[in-house]
Amino acid sequence: MENVKDLMQKIKELKEKKRAVILAHLYQIEDVQDVADFVGDSLELSRKAAATDAEVIVFCGVKFMAETAKILSPDKTVLLPAIDAGCPMADMVEEKDVLQLKAEHPQAAVVCYVNSSAEVKAVSDYCCTSSNAVKLVQNIPEDEIIFVPDQNLGCFISQKVPEKKFIFWKGYCPTHHRINLDELEAIKKIHADVEFLVHPECKTEIVEQADFVGSTAQIIRRAKESTAHNVIIGTEQGVYHRLKRENPDKNIYLLSPKLICPNMKKTRLQDVFAALDEMKYQIEVEKEIREKALLALERMFQYS
Ligand code: 13P
Ligand code: SF4
Repeated sequence: MENVKDLMQKIKELKEKKRAVILAHLYQIEDVQDVADFVGDSLELSRKAAATDAEVIVFCGVKFMAETAKILSPDKTVLLPAIDAGCPMADMVEEKDVLQLKAEHPQAAVVCYVNSSAEVKAVSDYCCTSSNAVKLVQNIPEDEIIFVPDQNLGCFISQKVPEKKFIFWKGYCPTHHRINLDELEAIKKIHADVEFLVHPECKTEIVEQADFVGSTAQIIRRAKESTAHNVIIGTEQGVYHRLKRENPDKNIYLLSPKLICPNMKKTRLQDVFAALDEMKYQIEVEKEIREKALLALERMFQYS
């Protein structure tokens, strides 16, 4: 087995030769985060993908993220090192479902979570991420919103923007949605005087108990800035490990050991090397879909 340091060095050399940039989501395994040029949440990564002058983007994340990078930077080669890394929530809604909702509610605007396919984005009016969803919905002119696919994020937005009417799709993130209130109560019994930071993909009953609700990167910032000494994290385990490493003076607890996204853990260092070496797996989005999906993404930047 190749030594991790040697493999990282080879990846760095190959990356320079191919004029590539490596982007990694905060849920990726530590070695992959360490070899990346930039690590962030969905919004930060899409901004980087749109702004980079590299010729090749190696996206260490899941398929919808690499697709979003391709939509934003169509002239670049976008590589997804683990081709089977998908997002089950993104797969819970299809283009035909959105078209049917639109036909039933013609006056409503469609807002899709970035965790969706390019085809779904193409039939949506606006896209959003967990860090800008509330602001976007507040700022857009429409009063009626079809929100797909995450029912939990949708419910969180609707509580923050009660003056608007919402039609939800019943999608969910299997990793965040499986956490129950009894798990939160059990951990709170053990650790008193804690601040609870949660991702809006968790169930409403969990989110309602939180001291802070935010995206992955927002949770990391909040945990660092908070004066609280004891912090419970209600999002994927990758965030917990990073916080523990970066805040040795604080007690950081993960709400549940079940908070692992198997798809985000599929990318290994060896896959990143093979991606650059063999220029695989190239992500393509059909021109017509790409151009329509781009409008929803551009409106996201415009309204948030
Ligand atoms: P953020 O990166 O926006 O926090 O989203 C988390 C997530 O589940 C990505 O799939
Ligand atoms: Fe999808 Fe949830 Fe995994 Fe994010 S954490 S990629 S939403 S399954």
